[in-house]
Amino acid sequence: MSTTQVGITEAVLHYKPPHPPVEEFEPPKDRAFFADPEKKSLLSAVTKIRNLTPYIGTELVGIQLSKLTPAQKDDLALLIAERGVVFFRDQDITLDEQHELAKHYGIQDRDPNQQDPRHVTILGNNNDVRAYQNFSSEFHSDHSQEVNPPSYTLLRMVRTPESGGDTIFTSQTALYDKLSPKYQQYLEGLHGVHSSEQGFINSVNSGYKPFRGPVRREHPLIRTHPVTRLKSLFYNPSYVVHISELKGQEAIHTLNFLREHLHAADDLTVRWKWEPGSVAFWDNRVVAHKAVPGGYDPTLREGKRTAVYGEKPFYDPNSESLSQRIARVGGDPAKNEIINLHFKSPHV
Ligand SMILES: [Fe+2]
Repeated sequence: MSTTQVGITEAVLHYKPPHPPVEEFEPPKDRAFFADPEKKSLLSAVTKIRNLTPYIGTELVGIQLSKLTPAQKDDLALLIAERGVVFFRDQDITLDEQHELAKHYGIQDRDPNQQDPRHVTILGNNNDVRAYQNFSSEFHSDHSQEVNPPSYTLLRMVRTPESGGDTIFTSQTALYDKLSPKYQQYLEGLHGVHSSEQGFINSVNSGYKPFRGPVRREHPLIRTHPVTRLKSLFYNPSYVVHISELKGQEAIHTLNFLREHLHAADDLTVRWKWEPGSVAFWDNRVVAHKAVPGGYDPTLREGKRTAVYGEKPFYDPNSESLSQRIARVGGDPAKNEIINLHFKSPHV
């Protein structure tokens, strides 16, 4: 985007979004509550389980999403909630079948820029990640500014370049856990102000027609996952512009630290290389992600994303950090046995 298209242009001033903001509502019960804690029906049906990193990301091999039984779908929800993102390759699932699969997990969410109500088409991106106000290449949770931000989010790639266009996912559960207890205490109870203003402006300036206007909403900066009952950071630099309880400069410095914390988290991150038919199925509540742009022909990348509404983010002071959970169940956080704990969700 050239600098002449940045900011409050005539196009932005005169743009009238056709739809009102989304109102708060109670989504259906999270399907992970219906899962077998051992996930036997799902994990016994795969040929290989690859934990791609200790803290985030598991690839399931030898199974087709198009053929999952209802019990396997519920087990998958729990695995996603615990591992942040679950990957698949060589999937034969059609777009209609993807819509049906999304229905199992809840009510289809609608991104403000989403033209088809059932899915978002994700395209390639040749932006300069270092450009001024380059919104789309930064870490984010998908439209976290909404009152019910998405929970289970599936992206299936139809076409991909031979190299380029990878997606990076980072565990916000682990990001929270790696903070010192003092810093954790400082953040708990604070609220991030999530704003879609910049995204809206960029969207209109790029010629899109977003059907909802920009909104600002407060969400807890530390949120509790309803199923795993683990605390996670709920921060992303694309949408979080302020911290409600702080003064201006205090918030700027805290947000700068959080951005650095997120960008420096190689140990809490998984980078996924796509092929046609690859799928990433993530929990948008506890994962930040970004697509890596540039260096490839953007017309060669196309995917279909479906997402369902999650609960209104909440914070339960009695929930646990990952280290507290591991200590309570007898593990050693310093060892890689973390992988095998799968975070041990207590409520299913
Ligand atoms: Fe995204």
